[in-house]
Amino acid sequence: MLKLDREDLKKMAAQKALDYVEDGMVIGLGTGSTVEYFIPKLGDKIKKENIEIIAIPTSHRTKSLAQEFQIPLSTLREHPEIDVTIDGADEVDPNLNLIKGGGGALTREKIVAYASKKEIIIVDESKLVQKLGVSFPLPIEVVPFGWYPTKLHIERLFDCSANLRMADSIPFTTDNTNYILDCEFSEIERPELLEKELNDIPGVVEVGLFVDLADIVIAGTREGIKIFEK
Ligand code: A5P
Repeated sequence: MLKLDREDLKKMAAQKALDYVEDGMVIGLGTGSTVEYFIPKLGDKIKKENIEIIAIPTSHRTKSLAQEFQIPLSTLREHPEIDVTIDGADEVDPNLNLIKGGGGALTREKIVAYASKKEIIIVDESKLVQKLGVSFPLPIEVVPFGWYPTKLHIERLFDCSANLRMADSIPFTTDNTNYILDCEFSEIERPELLEKELNDIPGVVEVGLFVDLADIVIAGTREGIKIFEK
């Protein structure tokens, strides 16, 4: 066993993801601490190998970091098709279904994932679970106007507790100026069904369940890199 902490494992996964980046690609950039290890490495690769990459960021935070490392950026209007997206996750199950949205960027991340030919998820081993919902609440982005009745509907329909995400004692606001409800389920039996049912509730913008969207998961583990593919 290697003596590595969680940050080392995230860095290992971020490093491995570079292997999937090729000259001329449009790359989706996810959000979160693991992706923040990937972005400087991508900036270095572009310079050292003199390759042409265009990146689509999924959050304001990712955009600023990418700018800091001189990664050329574009939009989905200019590049509606993405070759490869590199993103993180909060939980990954054995079918490569995910919970995402710990950083609040789930809606943009899902739009980018759906527009991507290949979605690559980089995680440390703590994110690998047998069932979604066991270790991380499910983030759901909601419209601020009706957040309270939306919360009550979710709680009544799904027997969970839906907590408004706060930041410095005011509601956390996403880049889309919406709120997040962090929903605690004991475990999620059928993610594909739950995703659809939650999306049917008025006021729900998007659900942090990513079903059948990830193609490859790169996990940094104390035994080395593990790659899971569909
Ligand atoms: C951002 O909204 C999330 O979906 C992140 O991708 C997820 O929370 C993983 O973040 P870390 O890499 O910080 O664990």
